Parts: sequence; structure tokens; C-alpha cells
Amino acid sequence: MATYFDIDNIITDREINAAIINISGRQRMLSQRAALFALKLVCTEDSWQQERLRQEMLAVIDLMEQSHNGLIKGNPAMKLPGKLSKEVWTIYFEPPYYLSQQIWDFMTQVRALAQVTSTELNLENYHLKYILQVSETELLNALDIAVNQYQKESELFERQVEMQQAQLFQQICTARATTHAQAKQLERTVQDLQRTQSQLIQSEKFSSIGQMMAGVAHEINNPFNFIYGNLQCTKDYIHDLFELINTYQEHYPNTLPAIQGKIDEIELDFVQEDLAKILDSMQVGANRIRELVLSLRNFSRSDLSSRQLLDLHQGIDSTLLILRNRLKANNDRPAVEIIKDYGSIPKIECYAGQLNQVFMNILSNGIDALEEIPNHLGYIKIRTHLSPDGSRVIIQIADNGPGMTQEVKEQLFDPFFTTKPLGKGTGLGLAISHKIVVDTHGGYLKCESSPGKGTEFWIEIPLQSSVRREQGVGNRQLITGRLTKTKV
Ligand SMILES: Nc1ncnc2c1ncn2[C@@H]1O[C@H](COP(=O)(O)OP(=O)(O)O)[C@@H](O)[C@H]1O
Ligand SMILES: [Mg+2]
Repeated sequence: MATYFDIDNIITDREINAAIINISGRQRMLSQRAALFALKLVCTEDSWQQERLRQEMLAVIDLMEQSHNGLIKGNPAMKLPGKLSKEVWTIYFEPPYYLSQQIWDFMTQVRALAQVTSTELNLENYHLKYILQVSETELLNALDIAVNQYQKESELFERQVEMQQAQLFQQICTARATTHAQAKQLERTVQDLQRTQSQLIQSEKFSSIGQMMAGVAHEINNPFNFIYGNLQCTKDYIHDLFELINTYQEHYPNTLPAIQGKIDEIELDFVQEDLAKILDSMQVGANRIRELVLSLRNFSRSDLSSRQLLDLHQGIDSTLLILRNRLKANNDRPAVEIIKDYGSIPKIECYAGQLNQVFMNILSNGIDALEEIPNHLGYIKIRTHLSPDGSRVIIQIADNGPGMTQEVKEQLFDPFFTTKPLGKGTGLGLAISHKIVVDTHGGYLKCESSPGKGTEFWIEIPLQSSVRREQGVGNRQLITGRLTKTKV
């Protein structure tokens, strides 16, 4: 049997089956009709009637012969293929039925009767007796058996078609499911790849920026120590010198005119007063440089690939210090207020540089968001605390910016998703932060936000797992950390 992918094939084969059953049924009907006409012929006296019946009988037999040949040899016009199954062939050509022979005999007898002269027409006629006999028994029986066989084969065909269709359907379903699963897998792989790629780009960028920062901090730090370290000393010496001048003035109140002239010329009182102020402001400036250098070092702790003990508050503060310029008031808006609510949390062992990067990404997104509302009194609240079971550190970073729509929220962590203009947003910040918090630290990062309600990021970093998982590496890196420290 053919494979039925094609509905046209099924229809053609169905038509053939129907034609076969139809024609084989007709054979049976023709045999009965021939017998009836034969009986009528014998019983009628009317010669005109007799002639008509002879013609009818011959026509019936012609049709019977044509149908028989069609069934056995095929006939395209009648949609008969002429291919017999083994069973049908047996019925036609083998014992016990020899149907083909029976049909030929029957046709011969009917044709013979149609030729008999009127005087010979009676109920005892040999041809008539033969016709009536077989059309009621052997021939009828064999024709019925053939029709049954044809019907059985047609039903078998239908069942096979149904089975095949069911199998095809199943194959299609399986194929579709497989394709679907493969597509999903592919999609996941592509996403993973994108994430890895973006993380690589970013961490590469950050590690080179980090190295540069560390280098700059180191270069500034050494000469700066000459200034910072000597500032107090300078203050002390100057203090001493002025004390000496004061002592002179006490003991020699009436000094020489040349000296008095110089004192007036340089406005000694003013110098004394102003120098103290200048030294104080130098001290403030120097303190600030020192803080900045420390923060640069903290931020860029050359550890993108090693775990260290991090004081999270120090990490956040360093990040804020680096962002200080962006927090200041400008022409478009007042300064961004930073509200800190630091809880008591232990140091955690983590990839400090990477976590600083997360704070950097989230805080700069917050500032970007606040800038979207002109003249807005923006604030960023940073709250840290331990989870109730003490196993995780939680950092909440919230802003009172414009918030985001559901649509944005759904794509927030997708690599390359950004709502910012070209050149400003990369769409990588949060994708990378997610990777760092969730994948690298086994933590949790989520975002609560709705339009007009501001945005809050919730970061959880486990204390235990991060310490335990890579303890060996952690200890080694700690030593490296210390070495780095003494070097800078
Ligand atoms: N605090 C926030 N308030 C409003 N929208 C935010 C905030 N943080 C992030 N977003 C939205 O998430 C998007 C993706 O952020 P991010 O991954 O850092 O990429 P980028 O900052 O380069 O656009 C931003 O473009 C912005 O639409
Ligand atoms: Mg960003």
C-alpha cells in the first residue's frame, strides 16, 4: 500500500474502491435480471414481446461481459485498475468457485437462449434450466463471495489509511514538539551567549578601567604622601615661627623703623591670620584627595576574579564618592540627596570589585532616572540589613524617579535592553549586575517599580555559601589582597 501523505491519492484510491464494489454488485444484479428476462421470454406468447426480451437479455449480457473484463483486466473509463488481490484472483480462477468460468458459462447460456426459435421456447429448455439453476445457487453464491471480498479489502484499505493518518499526525506532533524544544534550547543558548559575551565585554572593560584606576591611584598616592604627610609638620613649624615673632614683639616693642616698615608692608597680622586659614583649607583639600585615592583603590581592587572580604558599606561609599560629581546640583536640577540607612552587617567574602560594579550600575541608573524629571527634588535611599535568618545581607537601593512600566520591567535584565538614547545607554548594566549577583554570588536581585512610584532594587547576597563554596581560593586570594595593599 502506498504512503498517504497526499489527500489526492487517498481520494483516487477511494474512488477506485467504490467503482469496484459498485461494478461487482452490478454483476450480481445483472445475473438476476438476465434470469428474470429468460423466464419471461419462455412464458410469453407474443412474438413482438419475445423479440424485445431477447434484445434486453443480450444487452444485459454485453454489459455483464464488459464489467467482467473491466474487473479482471482493468478499464480506465470505468475507474477499474484490473489488479486483483490474491484472494479475489482465487475466487475467480481457482476451486471451489471458478467464478470467471461460471460467468462465461452463464453468458454463453443466456446468449444461446436468446437465439432459440420460438417453438423451442419452453420451461424444459436446457439453457433456461441452466440459467435459473446457477443464478439462484453457485453463480449467485460466488458473486456474493466476490462482492464481500471486494468490500473487505476496501474496509481494510480505509483502516490502513486511518492508521497511517494517525501515525503521520503523531509524527507531525512529535516533530513539532522536538522542533519547539530545539528552538527553545537555541533561544536559551543564544541568550546565555549574549549574556556571557556582554559580561566578557563589560568585565574586560571594567578590569582595564580598574587596573588603570589602581595605577593612577598608586601614582598619585606616592607624591601625594609628601604633601599630606608634611602638611601637619608645616603647620607646626609655622605655628612655631609665629610664636617666635610674637616673642620678639613682646620683648622688643619699639623695633627699628626698617623692621616696622617691613611688618607694615607685608601686613603681618593679616598674613598670620590668613595663613592659618590657608593651611586649614589645604588640610581639607588634602583629606579629600586622600579619600578619593582610597576610594579609587577600594573600587578597583584588582580582584575581578578573586574573592575578598568586603565591607559592603565601604564599597557603597566608595562608589558614591566616585559618583559625587554626578550627585551635585547642576543647571537642570538640585543635588541628589543620598539617604543612608546602614544596618549592622558583617563583612562578606565576595568578588568585591564586581559587587562595587553592581552598586555603580544601579546607582548610576538611579541618577539617570532622576534626571528625567526637570527640577525634581530627587533622592536615593540606601538601606542595608541582615535577612531575618541571618544568612544573607540585603541591600535596598530606592529612588523617587519616574519608575518604569510593566513592559520595561519585564525586559530590565535582558542584555542590550535600554530605553536611553544612543550613546548613553548600553543596556548592559543590569544584565551584568544580574549575572554577578545571581550567577557569581548565588544571590538574588529583583526590582519593584511602577510609573510615578519610583524604583527599588533589592539585592541579596548569601553570607554562608559565598564563604564556603570556594574557601580554598578565598584564603589564597586574601593573602594576595594583603600583598596588594602593602604594595600600593
Ligand atoms: N532606577 C531606574 N528607574 C527607571 N528605569 C530604570 C532604572 N534602572 C534601570 N531602568 C531601566 O532599565 C533599562 C536598562 O538598564 P541598564 O541595563 O542599566 O542599561 P542602560 O542604563 O544602559 O540603559 C534602562 O534603560 C531603564 O529604562
Ligand atoms: Mg545602566
